Amino acid sequence: MNNLILEVENGIALLTINRPKSLNALNSETLAELNTCLAELEKDQEVKAVILTGSGEKSFVAGADISEMVNATAPEGRTMGLLAREAFSRLENMPQVTIAAVNGYALGGGCEISMACDIRVASENARFAQPECGLGILPGFGGTQRLARLVGKGRAKELIFTCDQITAEEACRIGLVNHVVPQAELIDYCKAMAGRIMKNSPFTVALAKQAINTGMDTDLDSGLKLEANLFGLSFATEDKKEGMTAFLTKRKEKHFIGK
Ligand code: CAA
Repeated sequence: MNNLILEVENGIALLTINRPKSLNALNSETLAELNTCLAELEKDQEVKAVILTGSGEKSFVAGADISEMVNATAPEGRTMGLLAREAFSRLENMPQVTIAAVNGYALGGGCEISMACDIRVASENARFAQPECGLGILPGFGGTQRLARLVGKGRAKELIFTCDQITAEEACRIGLVNHVVPQAELIDYCKAMAGRIMKNSPFTVALAKQAINTGMDTDLDSGLKLEANLFGLSFATEDKKEGMTAFLTKRKEKHFIGK
């Protein structure tokens, strides 16, 4: 991989987008590498959580690579959009929990890739924007869809139409990020959160993720039916026996095996 750094430790994969000279902008090669890497990670039973970040202290991801897009034709633009769609949907739906550690600029495709993660934690210096309309394109890596679902139609339209940059605090206020922490603490904070999640049954965390993701894209009644079915499925697991027995016998330590 030319543009990614993958470090796996204690069940947590730290995946760093590493193109510091262009503030970690996403070119086609990086998108293809992301897709391949996530396809491997989603099959890896040892990996229980993925933290996505950018290299350096200035930028998470400063968007799609403008120097690649400037001469791209309409079909090439569509191909790039589809490449991102494949990688980002994989990220969104992988069974492991994904946390974006937003360590600086999250602009355009950077904001969009963070929104494909389950949870976003931002450093105090992080800035978010969808600057595409100022470049004569529109958000094409999921921004028109995921931003509206996360922060509501009105706020998404304001951000996309104005191209305004917002601070980490403002992003937190509108629900775009979950927490804002000092930059020096960002990765440890995300690892600690991943650790708390990993104490629970990984199988049921994956089912809950599926219920939320699918449910948010359907009507309430269909979402509730899906939830009831997945709730039922969780009763067939060893993890359910373990979790409930531990509670009833007042045992603190639990040993979830993920099935
Ligand atoms: N694509 C390609 N190169 C980029 C880039 C991008 N998105 N963002 C930054 N760079 C490059 C700059 O061209 C510069 O390269 P050189 O040193 O070779 O000149 C280098 O990174 C450092 O950037 P700056 O000198 O501009 O740094 P700065 O501190 O003055 O500004 C910034 C930082 C505000 C992030 C500014 O670089 C910027 O506005 N970048 C573009 C942000 C943007 O518009 N992103 C959206 C892209 S479109 C998109 O993402 C479409 C989509 O929906 C997927």
